[in-house]
Amino acid sequence: MSGFDRLAKPYRWMEYLSFGTALENCRFHFLPVLRNTRHALLLGDGDGRFTAALLRQATAADAVAIDASGGMLHALKKRCAAVGAERRIQTFCTALNNGLSESLPRNHFDLIVTHFFLDCLNDAEVEHIAHDAALCATADARWVISDFHIPDHGAMRLPSRLIVRLLYLAFRLLTGLRAQQLPTHGPILHRNGWQMQQQQTSLGGLLISELWQRADNANIAKSIKSELQ
Ligand SMILES: C[S@@+](CC[C@H](N)C(=O)[O-])C[C@H]1O[C@@H](n2cnc3c(N)ncnc32)[C@H](O)[C@@H]1O
Repeated sequence: MSGFDRLAKPYRWMEYLSFGTALENCRFHFLPVLRNTRHALLLGDGDGRFTAALLRQATAADAVAIDASGGMLHALKKRCAAVGAERRIQTFCTALNNGLSESLPRNHFDLIVTHFFLDCLNDAEVEHIAHDAALCATADARWVISDFHIPDHGAMRLPSRLIVRLLYLAFRLLTGLRAQQLPTHGPILHRNGWQMQQQQTSLGGLLISELWQRADNANIAKSIKSELQ
């Protein structure tokens, strides 16, 4: 049983009470550009609000959702069923600290999604995920990330440090989460063949939404763009 099981039901309301719709806005920021998704891999998507919205929008897409919490996956399946997408979702209840299962198909997923999930892991665990995700991804794959962030400077730097510290303390008490600081996912994704395309920040830099792409494809897109200019 995962420590997140007991949060599956109240999770959405806990989020709204603490951050209003700020996390939701972050999660859905890149949704409009994901319409043509074919095969999505959702890691730690919790109660499935994003999975259901993705499958409702990308009507030809199917998805694999992996989470350590059976309670969260139960909520996710219910949400997918509510949008008529229950046949397009496959779920696996597994901890991802050691990366992805070798049984996942290679060169298959054109979308990887991790919303407020990488912050549950340490750098070494993110490295496993980034490495394995690159193997499972197609050459044109994208990776959408939402997470907390401590800005390098500015008025929100200290408040962000405090909020992040309090959140880790709360999640340690509520779920037994072992991670206690944000991983440095940027350089890790970069050295595993991913390149950031766009970043959106909110709440003064405390929240980030990022769109990453497989590096080869990102380079091709950039060189075509510069040739056209
Ligand atoms: C903070 S919640 C985020 C949920 C959702 N993605 C969101 O945007 O709110 C983290 C999710 O990741 C899952 N999780 C945490 N650590 C995990 C691990 N090591 N392996 C697999 N899932 C994990 C939890 O069960 C939970 O569903």
